[in-house]
Amino acid sequence: MEIDLLAARSFENGQPHDQFRWLRENAPVHRHPEPEGPGFWAVTRHDDVRAVSRNHAVFSNEPTVMIADPEPLLDMGDARMMLMSDPPRHTRLRRLVAQSFTPKAAKAMAPRLAVLARQIVDAVVERGECDFVADVAGELPSYVIAELMGLPLDDGRKLYRLTEVLHSAPESLSAGAQAQAGAEMFAYAAALLAEKKARPADDLASRLIRSEIEGRRLSEMEFHLFFMLLIDAGGDTTRNLVAGGMLALLDEPEQMARLTADPSRLLPAAREELLRFVSPVVYMRRTAKRDAEIAGQAIAQGDKVVLYYGSANRDADAFPDPDRLDIARTPNHHVAFGATGAHFCLGAKLARVEIDAILHEVLTRMAGLELAEPPTWLTSNFISGPRRMPVRFRPGPRSA
Ligand code: HEM
Repeated sequence: MEIDLLAARSFENGQPHDQFRWLRENAPVHRHPEPEGPGFWAVTRHDDVRAVSRNHAVFSNEPTVMIADPEPLLDMGDARMMLMSDPPRHTRLRRLVAQSFTPKAAKAMAPRLAVLARQIVDAVVERGECDFVADVAGELPSYVIAELMGLPLDDGRKLYRLTEVLHSAPESLSAGAQAQAGAEMFAYAAALLAEKKARPADDLASRLIRSEIEGRRLSEMEFHLFFMLLIDAGGDTTRNLVAGGMLALLDEPEQMARLTADPSRLLPAAREELLRFVSPVVYMRRTAKRDAEIAGQAIAQGDKVVLYYGSANRDADAFPDPDRLDIARTPNHHVAFGATGAHFCLGAKLARVEIDAILHEVLTRMAGLELAEPPTWLTSNFISGPRRMPVRFRPGPRSA
């Protein structure tokens, strides 16, 4: 079996589940070469992904969670993005924003998200056809980013398009496109900082500006990094789950029919199964702070260790019949949001409310939804989901 977890072509039809299966069975902690780097350990079993994820004392999120080491585009001084920092700094940063992401906060947003989901379907339903990725799945995260940060909706859309560029495989873009997208994000954050300082409001951006860490306000760079993380983490992840999830359901008409017959009751378990099955975040990297061992494999200090969530979520030792979509699967200890470590997805509660809102609307109002053309996939080895998914449908309940 040829193993290449970096090549864009390995991801052109979704995640490389055949490679993952081979690795779990034959080399669960596999030394993977890296053309422009030292190589990394690919960790593919559920148990091992969880064990590494929980052990932040040994497996660090610094300097980055991406496989490639960062090319310093600009001097960040002492500032660090929360996702790329370890406790105790991570704990202090997370505390600053945690209040906006509690179950209560997510629940409070539910009625508003239901209205937004309705508007999104209203905008396409009479047309009878659309690109499900751009017109449906991608709309809600843009709204949510805008709501959370207190921005105009069109700016939410623009920022969300930039995250797509940042997450794409560089070889699929024109030269310099990613640096340009990063620079645009920073420029937007700088303008927002000035605007919210001048006119504070009841939104997360204004709260961040007022917040203090170790008795001082956040630096400008710290604000920028928070902004980038929140925009980046909540955008195409949710979109890919919704689009990839619908695709999985279209492949399983019997499961789709069951869910459509009673979405209010079945959605909570079905949504968790779609998270497991789709796993929008392909991997997160850690770096060994000292010599260690994973499932008997010696790991040297400084080695890159990459946790493959999409593989862990198809591990037969954790999920019976793992390649089968089962919308009623229980228990379902998937790791789509990370594996219960310090960095477990901050937006998990909010994402669940978003996903339920839009899927409920789609299932109950876009009747006979089917693919109009074969979908194409993102060519990213980091974020997985359909890029384009032309669909046909009729107004009314799916089963009508
Ligand atoms: C289906 C949607 C989503 C998926 C699959 C997802 C997945 C993940 C994963 C795998 C991680 C890393 C966990 C780890 O390293 O242990 C993460 C972290 C994070 N996510 Fe999400 N996420 C989603 C939606 C969101 C949303 C909607 C937001 C916020 C608006 C968000 C904000 C964050 C933040 C801030 C972190 C970093 C947490 C930390 O470093 O402490 N995510 N997410």
